[in-house]
Amino acid sequence: MNLKPNHRLPLMAMGMFSLLMALFGGVQRLGWELPTLTVALPANHGSLMVGAFLGTVIGLERAVALGRLWGFFGPLSTGLGGLLLIAGVAPPLAQLLIVTGSLMLCALFVAFLRRQFAWFTVIMLVGALSWLVGNLLWLLGNSIFVVVWWWMGFLLLTIAGERMELGRMLFISKQRQRQMSAAVILSMLGIAVTLLDLDAGVRLLGVGMVAIALWLGLNDVARRTVRQQGLTRFIAVNLLAGYVWLACCGLLLLLFGADFSGLRYDAVLHSFFLGFIFSMIFGHAPVIFPAVLGRGMIYRPAFYIHVVLLHVFLTVRVVGDLTVELLSRNISGLINALTLLVFVLNTVLAIRAYHIRERSEAAPGESA
Ligand code: HEM
Repeated sequence: MNLKPNHRLPLMAMGMFSLLMALFGGVQRLGWELPTLTVALPANHGSLMVGAFLGTVIGLERAVALGRLWGFFGPLSTGLGGLLLIAGVAPPLAQLLIVTGSLMLCALFVAFLRRQFAWFTVIMLVGALSWLVGNLLWLLGNSIFVVVWWWMGFLLLTIAGERMELGRMLFISKQRQRQMSAAVILSMLGIAVTLLDLDAGVRLLGVGMVAIALWLGLNDVARRTVRQQGLTRFIAVNLLAGYVWLACCGLLLLLFGADFSGLRYDAVLHSFFLGFIFSMIFGHAPVIFPAVLGRGMIYRPAFYIHVVLLHVFLTVRVVGDLTVELLSRNISGLINALTLLVFVLNTVLAIRAYHIRERSEAAPGESA
């Protein structure tokens, strides 16, 4: 039995609230003087983004696809964990809730595999395991710069697996499947090596990322669909731009190796999390939100506003990071945060436009 769309709303709302609070904390970490909402926000910026926002949204989307009530326990856990992280209350309980959410996501993928074996589901399961290991390391007291690579593994493999599933790349040759498996193994090997030698591990992860970016760039249907119109082209533009950012992040990792904080760390993390992950979110949102929330949305060319803003100002931010231009880095970082608000606003307006159209189409029938 699936959870009714209206009952999924509070879960999505918890994830979105974590996103907003994480953005606030991120801007504070850039050094902008904002009022203190809670003292925990700047320190919990990364864990809120990955565990409480992305973990909840991905968990929710997968739970809807599985259609079993128990599947929603995962996003409920991560959503509640996020609220505790925001309040800065009971940090170990917050971490435990996010660990539980990642465990539930692993269970979800096992259930998918039992229903129907598919290699893209195996890749997503490995991604969920990477998130679980990262969260366990975090629960055990490791710093974010130790666990963040495991979190990246989660998102990297989730996206790679989802692209294969959504992009109808099911009929790719065995040889290409082997190439992707090799890139995934390389990335996961790099992530595992970070526990022994952080520098060598992240460089290896960088090679794996470049390989996955190349594979996706060459095999994704987006290469063809980018020549179409409207929503189809919009999705393809986002996917291809995201693969470019993934390759950039891989190259930066390969070049610089491990960093623990500071400007290069900022460049590496945000070319991945903002450039790659948010491109995927922007591209998939018009498909995923209606599926998860049971509410349609109308594609509008205005969606390109948040896309252009993201890529222009993320480029300025990364260049500012690498050339130690603090002012341009800080201003563009602030604009990155505002861009995500524009995305949320555009999405709400598109859902509203659909709702209004539905009502106006239903009205003549009602009066007849
Ligand atoms: C959109 C606006 C954003 C701003 C202004 C922002 C700002 C920052 C800053 C200033 C740092 C500290 C970097 C350093 O150590 O010098 C940071 C770290 C981090 N950010 Fe962001 N960020 C944003 C978006 C994101 C997103 C979308 C994600 C993930 C989906 C993310 C994940 C992280 C992570 C995991 C860290 C490492 C945290 C740590 O080491 O404690 N950020 N961010």
